[in-house]
Amino acid sequence: MKKFRAHSLFLYVCYISVAAEENLQKQMQDKLDKEYKMQRQKKVIRVDKVMQKHIFQNVRNPLDEKKNEKHFFRNDDKPNIKWFDTKFNINFPTSNHLHQPFHIRRAPIPSIGVPWPKPQKIRSSSDSLYRIKTLSAKTNLTKCDLLSKAVKRYRDLFFTCHNEHFINNLLNVHNANFTFPIQKPSLEYLMSQPEISRLYLLVMTCPSYPTISSDESYTLKTSSKGIQIKANEVWGAIRGLETLSQLIICINNTLIIKRTEITDYPRFPHRGILIDSARHFMSKTTMYQMLSAMEMNKMNVLHWHLTDDQSFPFESQTFPDLSGKGSYHPSLTYTPEDVRDIIEFARVRGIRIIPEFDVPGHSFSWGYGHPELLTQCFDNRGPISGHFGPMNPAKNNTYTFLSKFFKEILKVFKDQYIHLGNDEVPLACWNSNQEVRQFMSKINHISNFKNEGTAAWNFFTERLIQSIKNVSTQRENGVKFILWHEAFQSNLNIPGDAIVQVWLGPQSLVEEVTRRGYHAIVSSCWYINMIKYGVVWPEYYLCDPVSYSFRGDKSLVLGGEACLWSEFITSETAVGVLWPKASAVAERLWSDQSLRDVNEAAPRLEEQRCRMLRRGLPVGDVSGPGFCNVKATANPTFHNDNMKGQRHKSRSSANIQSVYYVSACLLLVGMFLFTFFLQKFRTKMKSGCFDTLPRLMGR
Ligand SMILES: *[C@@H]1O[C@H](CO)[C@@H](O)[C@H](O)[C@H]1NC(C)=O
Ligand SMILES: *[C@@H]1O[C@H](CO)[C@@H](O)[C@H](O)[C@H]1NC(C)=O
Ligand SMILES: *[C@@H]1O[C@H](CO)[C@@H](O)[C@H](O)[C@H]1NC(C)=O
Ligand SMILES: *[C@@H]1O[C@H](CO)[C@@H](O)[C@H](O)[C@H]1NC(C)=O
Ligand SMILES: *[C@@H]1O[C@H](CO)[C@@H](O)[C@H](O)[C@H]1NC(C)=O
Repeated sequence: MKKFRAHSLFLYVCYISVAAEENLQKQMQDKLDKEYKMQRQKKVIRVDKVMQKHIFQNVRNPLDEKKNEKHFFRNDDKPNIKWFDTKFNINFPTSNHLHQPFHIRRAPIPSIGVPWPKPQKIRSSSDSLYRIKTLSAKTNLTKCDLLSKAVKRYRDLFFTCHNEHFINNLLNVHNANFTFPIQKPSLEYLMSQPEISRLYLLVMTCPSYPTISSDESYTLKTSSKGIQIKANEVWGAIRGLETLSQLIICINNTLIIKRTEITDYPRFPHRGILIDSARHFMSKTTMYQMLSAMEMNKMNVLHWHLTDDQSFPFESQTFPDLSGKGSYHPSLTYTPEDVRDIIEFARVRGIRIIPEFDVPGHSFSWGYGHPELLTQCFDNRGPISGHFGPMNPAKNNTYTFLSKFFKEILKVFKDQYIHLGNDEVPLACWNSNQEVRQFMSKINHISNFKNEGTAAWNFFTERLIQSIKNVSTQRENGVKFILWHEAFQSNLNIPGDAIVQVWLGPQSLVEEVTRRGYHAIVSSCWYINMIKYGVVWPEYYLCDPVSYSFRGDKSLVLGGEACLWSEFITSETAVGVLWPKASAVAERLWSDQSLRDVNEAAPRLEEQRCRMLRRGLPVGDVSGPGFCNVKATANPTFHNDNMKGQRHKSRSSANIQSVYYVSACLLLVGMFLFTFFLQKFRTKMKSGCFDTLPRLMGR
């Protein structure tokens, strides 16, 4: 009995403090509401002069600075990025102080429920809607782990109602001229729309790994019977599910989809990004985030530049000293398990992983564990201490070592292609070394290279490729190679089925590559690590690997890669620097060639930026000042009730403490009630269905 009284007293105290808290909160809210209303009435807006200047300098013509790469652009493509005097602005009347009217530059208002990259053919109707409550997926392809995993991955995304906050917010933007993506947003209207609950996935085949010839095409169709996605291969179904997740919008807590018909397929089969984990180590989480962003943008190749002069983070089981001595730190390596996990994370998203082990240059870090691989450089006094050049082409050991190493690589990585680098080979060191010079003069007479150094380089690359082919016999599809364009430009004897990646040089070089019968991928205009101020994405967007003026064999251009070299980019900053800029590249490589209107793309790109943020990716900015409304994910005690309209958001943080306090009290009360009534009542717990936030990261 005594115990019970103590409990009641405690309850009472809690009750009082909760009531007091509520009262206080209400008072604060009223006060802020009043202030907010007053501010609106007064319409006082101050603009800092310095800021103004900044805003205007912010917009520039991307063609100005790229004179030498003009070939990638069409002349009539001058991007017209002036959101500040079209729809996306805040206009002020002429003021006595300023003597002239001016505008505030801001990012365009995002579209709502429009996919990125844009499908090849899309028809949708704003006044014919379907309401979605649940979606049960049915497929006629039962034994396909890729499909069931994809459905599981996307299910949460379909039902996550975050557009709403976003839409409410847009309604509060002054002069934004925001229009709803549908005719009437009223709840009554939405509830009167037909409901659909079936998602049909009609798929023909389920290959286990994506390849260069994967079929990613799909069709998507809504009807009163449900949503149907049809694809030849499971990869198309995965792309279609992504599109679907971008089409479903949430208004008034109701999920809806417009009547839509899509026929979609990629323009290029190789749509990649390059991640450099040698200059700065990229954590597994960063790799997962990159792959998640790629899936959202329908990109399908991760070119993983694993090693370079600076570090060797890949743990080889054949030669443990490579990373044992060559990594920055024992913790900054990829274990076999890490690599397996990353490959699997990519595979289920239809993304190929192509590893690059750059040889014979860019290989200094190999020498920490295996100095015998490198060439000792000399000056006229003798060997220069610690100065090692490219891999030694004169020693048989170099080739036997690399054969064993790549035998392991061919087992670990499943893609048919590996990237062998071959860029920026410093030949001077070879020339300084007596042993290598002897070797070079020996082989030079059997080749017809003008330069002995190039002859040795050719010998190295040819022999290495042959050795790797020799150890690839257990592979179902053998092995093929990608090389940077220096190997092509120096006329090395590279296999006819190799791909040449152009990273420096104009369209004419790409044309030449195809004229000599090689496949090409293009990166010249997509070095996103070259951080620039202002709105730069139109430059990436308008760069076309096969522009209208292309004079080569167009069919041999497989696509391109956005590169993120990481000399000055770390694991913590990588996602924010690359995305959503790489989204511009993604649309160029996926969508129709004729899609070149940056002003049309801008609101969709802004939506894509917000979408990625909402899915938990720490992406950066593309179009300048603006906002995305992202539902707080950190603190689960923040429910909608606490937020009451997004304009009060900043206030919520001030109330964190009181929220904690109230929650703690409620928790204690709950515990008390639970223990007290446990004997007498049996409670049935029911959990909410669609409350969960999507999780992009695996475990
Ligand atoms: C607002 O948008 C509508 C539809 O896009 C357009 O017709 C109208 O001119 C715009 N109004 C202003 C003030 O920009
Ligand atoms: C939601 O529905 C209500 C009731 O029909 C309507 O008044 C309101 O404008 C709608 N809200 C939004 C954000 O569309
Ligand atoms: C699933 O249905 C589609 C369309 O009817 C058909 O083309 C495909 O062959 C079917 N797949 C299987 C595994 O039966
Ligand atoms: C290296 O290998 C080549 C070809 O296999 C052979 O002719 C040569 O004698 C070998 N050199 C040494 C030093 O073993
Ligand atoms: C590759 O294998 C072939 C046939 O077994 C052999 O003649 C050749 O010397 C090998 N080449 C290299 C570089 O190992």
